[in-house]
This record gives sequence, C-alpha cells and structure tokens, in this order.
Amino acid sequence: MSALTPLLTSRWGQERAWTLDAYRRTGGYQALAKALKMDPADVLNTVKDSGLRGRGGAGFPTGVKWSFLPPPDGGPRYLVVNADESEPGTCKDIPLMMADPHSLIEGAIITSYAIGCHHAFIYLRGEVVHVYRRLLNAVSQARAAGLLGKSVGGSDFDLELTVHAGAGAYICGEETALLDSLEGRRGQPRLKPPFPAVAGLYARPTVVNNVESIASVPWIVGRGADWWKSMGTEKSTGVAIYSLSGHVQRPGQYEAQLGVTMRQLLDLAGGVRAGHQLKFWMPGGSSTPMFTPEQLDVPLDYDSVAAAGSMLGTRALQCFDETVCVVRAVSRWMEFYAHESCGKCTPCREGTFWLRSVLRRIEAGQGRPEDLQILQDIPGSIMGRAFCPLGDGAPSSLVSSLKFFRDEYVQHIELGRCPFDPAASYLFEAVTA
Ligand SMILES: Cc1cc2nc3c(=O)[nH]c(=O)nc-3n(C[C@H](O)[C@H](O)[C@H](O)COP(=O)(O)O)c2cc1C
Ligand code: SF4
Repeated sequence: MSALTPLLTSRWGQERAWTLDAYRRTGGYQALAKALKMDPADVLNTVKDSGLRGRGGAGFPTGVKWSFLPPPDGGPRYLVVNADESEPGTCKDIPLMMADPHSLIEGAIITSYAIGCHHAFIYLRGEVVHVYRRLLNAVSQARAAGLLGKSVGGSDFDLELTVHAGAGAYICGEETALLDSLEGRRGQPRLKPPFPAVAGLYARPTVVNNVESIASVPWIVGRGADWWKSMGTEKSTGVAIYSLSGHVQRPGQYEAQLGVTMRQLLDLAGGVRAGHQLKFWMPGGSSTPMFTPEQLDVPLDYDSVAAAGSMLGTRALQCFDETVCVVRAVSRWMEFYAHESCGKCTPCREGTFWLRSVLRRIEAGQGRPEDLQILQDIPGSIMGRAFCPLGDGAPSSLVSSLKFFRDEYVQHIELGRCPFDPAASYLFEAVTA
C-alpha cells in the first residue's frame, strides 16, 4: 500500500482546481455550511480534539492556541494566516495557495467563525506575485458567492478577508514581526509576553496560524476529529505535506500521514539521483539539525524527530548526495541567516556575521587551524541567547555538520582548498571584493 494520503493535495492535479466551481464540485465549502450550523465553541473543540498541530514549524496544538483567546469583550479579534513561507527548502504553502486557494479561504472562514473574528488577514510573502493575484481572485469569487462580507453563507456571521503582500523578509514569518509588518512598521519580533492571543494585531486578541494548518480545518470539521485522529501517530495526528527537494529523482510535494519515514518518502520520489548515494538531509528546513542515512527510518512526526536530535519543522526534506561539500552547503545557509538577521539583538546579528565570515574563508581554502574552535564556540553565544527563534535555528546546520562531518572542515583547512571544488576560492574573492 502506498504511503501517500492525498487530502490537502487531492485537488491539485484537477482541471482549473483553483476556481470556485472546481472547488465546490469536489465538496468544497460543505464543511463551512456544517460549521455555520454548529455553535462556534463546538467548532473550536472539534479542532482541539483532533490534535492538529501547527504546520508552520513549532507544532503547537492549533485548537489549544485558539482557546487562549480571552473571552469576547465587544472589541475586534483577528485571525492572521501566516503565508510568508521563506525558510530555505520550504515550498508547500505556495503550491497549496496556487492550486487550491479556496481550501485556505474556507479554513480561514471556519476559523474566524470559531474564534469570533470578523476581519481576517492572509500575510503573503511579497515576491510571489502570481500567488497574490490568485488569492485576490479567489477572495473576489468567494465574496461574489456570498461566502465573505455580510451574512456569510446566509448566516448572521460577517467576515472581511484581506490579502496583504509583505516585502519579502524571512523574519516577517516570525509571528510577532509579521504583526508589526502588517501594522505598517519595520518587521522585527516583539517581546513576549504578551502573546498574540492576548495582544496581537493592533494590540487586540489574535490567532496566527500557518497556511497548511488553516487549510486542514475544513477536512477536520467536515469529517470529524476522530477521523483525523485515526491518521498519523498518537501525538502527531493526521496528514501533512512533505516537500522533497535536492538530489532526488522526483522532487515535489508528498502528502502522507505523520510518522511516515524518509525511506518511504524517498522510495516514492524514485530514490536519490541515479548512480549516487544520500550523504545528508534536512528534516525540517535549514534551521533544523541535519540527518544522515542513519536516520532514514526515524518516523517523521514531531516527537520521534525531536528524540532523534532534530526537529520536524516545516517538513522541508532537502536531500544532498555524496558530491556535495557540506562546508559549502552550511556556508550558503549561513549567508542566508546573516543576511536575514533583523539586527535587533547582538547575539544573532554579530554571531551570524562572524560565522559567515569564518565559513567563507574555510570554504575558500584560507581557513586557520583555530577556526574550528571558533565555529564550535560562536553557536553557544547565539543559541538560547537570541531574542527570537531565528537566532536559535541559524547555527543548527553548522553544529550538526560538525558532529557528522568534522573531517571535511579539517580537510579544507589542511589542504588549503575545497576538496570538492578546488576553484572555490573565487567565491571568497567575489564576496569579499
Ligand atoms: C524566522 C522565522 C520565520 C518563520 N516563518 C514562518 C512562515 O513563513 N510561515 C509560518 O507559518 N510560520 C513561520 N514561522 C513560525 C511562526 O512564528 C508561527 O509559529 C506560526 O506561524 C504559527 O502557526 P502554526 O501554529 O499554524 O504553525 C517562523 C518563525 C521564525 C522564527
Ligand atoms: S534573533 Fe536575529 S532575527 Fe531574531 S530578533 Fe535577534 S537579530 Fe532579529
């Protein structure tokens, strides 16, 4: 039996799947009709009982998060869908919104109904203009069909939905930086507490959830919490999208029950490219510690991946074969983090800068014997000391690569060149010119 369980991805290959007609033909908006006949508290409890955990990285239980909102006080409360998707390797929300935008809109309407929100936002990464246009069109279709605006679906519930395009900064995916950006400020993380549930957008109670989390809601409300819980593992229920990229035969989105293994997913993707072997892989994006072939049978659920020493994160499974220089890969990620560090706190701003500088020179064959110690020391000054999780995640690939591939760093320093690409020094000269 195939490990694939397409639900969120089930419409993607269908004719004009992104249209309201196509969505309705395949059962779309039926969960909303069901939800509108339920008490909002029952909708919330259904999602809570399902055990759905946030798909944006941290895996916090979605229904529990909703229940943290204080009781209504007559003022506004907001839902903000996090569609910033900027973690290197993560590429599931953008295809979901492109292929099936109404599943996100239906999820956003049901969620808003459950939490008593009358104005929801989708905060989209700015560069994906094609997705922005698609979402705007889908929202107009939903509004024309009476699914947004006054009296949603003929009920007495009103909801506005605004799609907002950010300017393209990784830090704006962090939920409080996102809220500042949405309010028109520079996107930098806020001090917590207060958490967004208490004081979020415009200092009002706010739920921030990932695209995939919200798009799972219609499935859960439509078919019930027990059905959702019958999939996945006890503590990581349901299905999720796994994004395979890199040196695999068929990269792409593979939707499966949580707890599937990388070995199973690699089989589905046709294995590593012909004639090569897997060297290392990232289980949850570039902010998570790397794995090697040793971990191919670790169940890819939140707890098993954590027990094996990494994080499930966004299930961005990047695969690298034996031709890849681990120093180069880690160096590229560090370029990203040093560039995307928002600069608010010293450990991350300075730490990522220095890690990038040292990695650049090692890769270019100009590393010094003491550099290994520096690479080992700096992460300890960032992790656990930074203001937000960007800083904690930035050195993860480096620290794990030193555990598995220390020899490769030593080789670069002793040989005075990259053993994979002797011409790599041109990179150093280019970036330091
Ligand atoms: C630097 C950084 C970038 C993030 N980027 C995203 C993102 O693009 N999308 C997302 O849903 N969550 C992102 N997160 C996690 C959010 O802060 C937040 O936990 C998430 O949106 C909550 O949704 P969920 O509970 O549905 O997972 C990011 C976190 C950090 C620290
Ligand atoms: S950890 Fe980095 S991204 Fe986060 S607040 Fe500090 S400088 Fe900004």
